[in-house]
Amino acid sequence: MVQPSRRAWDMTDEMGAEKSQLDTPRLVLDLPRLDRNIERMARLADDAGVALRPHAKTHKLLPVAERQIAAGCHGLTVAKLGEAELFAAHGVRDLFIAYPLWGARKWERLCKLAAGADIRVGADSYEVFEGISSAAFALGLSIPVRIEVDTGFGRCGVQTTDEARALARRLTALPGVRLVGLMSFAGHIYRTEPARRREAAIADSARLVEVAEALRADGFDITEVSIGGTPSAAHVAGMTGVTEMRPGTYVFSDRDQVALGWGTLDDCALTVLATVISRPAPTRAVIDAGTKTLSSDTASAVGGWGDIRGHLDWRLASLSEEHGVLDVPAGGDSPPIGTQVEIIPNHACGALNLHDRVAVVRGEVVEDWWSVEGRGLVR
Ligand SMILES: Cc1ncc(COP(=O)(O)O)c(C=O)c1O
Repeated sequence: MVQPSRRAWDMTDEMGAEKSQLDTPRLVLDLPRLDRNIERMARLADDAGVALRPHAKTHKLLPVAERQIAAGCHGLTVAKLGEAELFAAHGVRDLFIAYPLWGARKWERLCKLAAGADIRVGADSYEVFEGISSAAFALGLSIPVRIEVDTGFGRCGVQTTDEARALARRLTALPGVRLVGLMSFAGHIYRTEPARRREAAIADSARLVEVAEALRADGFDITEVSIGGTPSAAHVAGMTGVTEMRPGTYVFSDRDQVALGWGTLDDCALTVLATVISRPAPTRAVIDAGTKTLSSDTASAVGGWGDIRGHLDWRLASLSEEHGVLDVPAGGDSPPIGTQVEIIPNHACGALNLHDRVAVVRGEVVEDWWSVEGRGLVR
């Protein structure tokens, strides 16, 4: 595996054993918190008797995938073929590509992958399934596929039960693919008001189960009913008819997930270390982390740009590319230049994706460094 390029000063930094000694800005992953999050979701799924197939687009990290599998996950979900290739090359044998793959080059790569691993694909159109079918048939493969149903998010997915029926009918006439299930993603929970989130999560699953039953009534062998999303997981884990959950962000959690009801800020395992580099006014502190370190992702449920661990009264008021502006109290409790701060990002997936390597810590001790191997695998 080719490592992302590392400069001499970065390698010197990596010899430091204390978190507080790290050069900033730095992405940091707290191992005990990570393991607690993995364990919590694994137990939730296990208690509910539902399979757990976490979305690995959140972490893109081989050691995290290993820990999820060791905790009982039967496979992983990915969005990109490149991610599937990476995880398969490192021993993950069961992968669901929850993304419509388009184009002969992708179908060829998919077939190569499917020849050596258990690969499922989700899509919502005859065109995509037909492309996969012709490539797979030519190689004597039969690739399991799932139809995506739009349950309210307004992204991909067939819109009606009749559309699902029609697609299922055309699909089952194709060689090289076999219809095994349905998928949905309840992304609209992120923008649903708090009092209605549980109801919206239940409605997403209920709708998918309803379409599955309609297809079964028509004679289709639908055995896999897969739902996604961290904020909906706790609400729907035990719902009759759901066979699989695909939460992703839970593994790190972030400021948005906490606002949406998943755990507390103390559960957030992925943070960005930054340093106060300017104090231009009594209530303004400027740090060395901006959108190129934290991402521009907003927190759909709370607004703002991130929380400062241990100083929730310091408000990250704005970000530019390389700067973050903190509103701080004037006087005694005000951070001087050189103060290290630990930011809980709005969206862990977006922040992770901006870094080549992550410092892996246990409390204050740096235990390891992990390469973000899946970074940049966008095709
Ligand atoms: C198709 C699909 N499944 C699952 C997930 C995981 O959701 P979450 O990030 O809420 O855990 C996502 C997230 O974008 C997704 O797009």
